[in-house]
Amino acid sequence: MSLDQLLTWVPAGSQEESLARQVDFDRLPAHVAVIMDGNGRWAAQRHLPRVEGHRAGIASVRDVVETSARLGLEVLTVYAFSVENWKRPPTEVSVLMGLLKRYLRLELETLQANDIRFNVIGAQNELPDDVRRELDVGQERTSGNGGMLFNIALNYGGRAEIVEAARRAMEAGGRPSDLDEDTFGQWLYTAGQPDPDLLIRTSGEMRVSNFLLWQIAYAEIWVTETLWPDFRACHLLEAILDYQKRERRYGGIAQPAVVGH
Ligand code: IPE
Ligand code: IPE
Ligand code: MG
Repeated sequence: MSLDQLLTWVPAGSQEESLARQVDFDRLPAHVAVIMDGNGRWAAQRHLPRVEGHRAGIASVRDVVETSARLGLEVLTVYAFSVENWKRPPTEVSVLMGLLKRYLRLELETLQANDIRFNVIGAQNELPDDVRRELDVGQERTSGNGGMLFNIALNYGGRAEIVEAARRAMEAGGRPSDLDEDTFGQWLYTAGQPDPDLLIRTSGEMRVSNFLLWQIAYAEIWVTETLWPDFRACHLLEAILDYQKRERRYGGIAQPAVVGH
């Protein structure tokens, strides 16, 4: 995506426009992962039940998915429900599942229009049947799309993913000496995908909460105090601009500044 294309949908004179103009399109993160947190606190601030925060968070998902696709990101992964989230009250869990179904039904057209491929990461077999059916439809209908890959982490746990990958690698019966970081990566949900370059967490918490533990080895982390239901395209652009100022060393040493340019 070029700046000109991006500017066709950003309101003229808006904050998004000025942020979009600063983005270096040659240095976009290939994969952005987002821990969408703070829905409950957003609702509590308004004296509303927690589920109202989840409801309000849907608009943020929509905005971030569409903006990411239009920016030209290769992969966007959002953390929607962790394996630990089953500890929440059953009513909250069922509202979350219901919202997910509704989001998919309402957004399928938009996903198609933006050439987005929808993909679920997590233990889908443990999800309610009606949710699984909806997820299957979403994944099947968008499977031919060649634009951004949109992963939704649902009933996802990083440790569970690693254990499951180890189990599958062992069951496949290869020689232990053939297993290395690359071949092991092929047993993860994210096989074939680039690792996240940028990990965003909303609502100020400085933790990774069992998200993509293997894949975020060298991700740049950006935490904002903004609560998820208030998160919009402008925050995503801010995160990307901050990412573009970082120097990634991967354990090496700082690159000398290029002179004469
Ligand atoms: C994130 O918001 C949504 C999910 C984990 C599903 P929370 O529900 O965790 O909101 P807080 O952290 O309690 O504010
Ligand atoms: C992380 O948020 C999980 C998701 C965003 C789905 P949580 O609210 O569940 O994480 P903790 O409990 O603050 O670590
Ligand atoms: Mg939370």
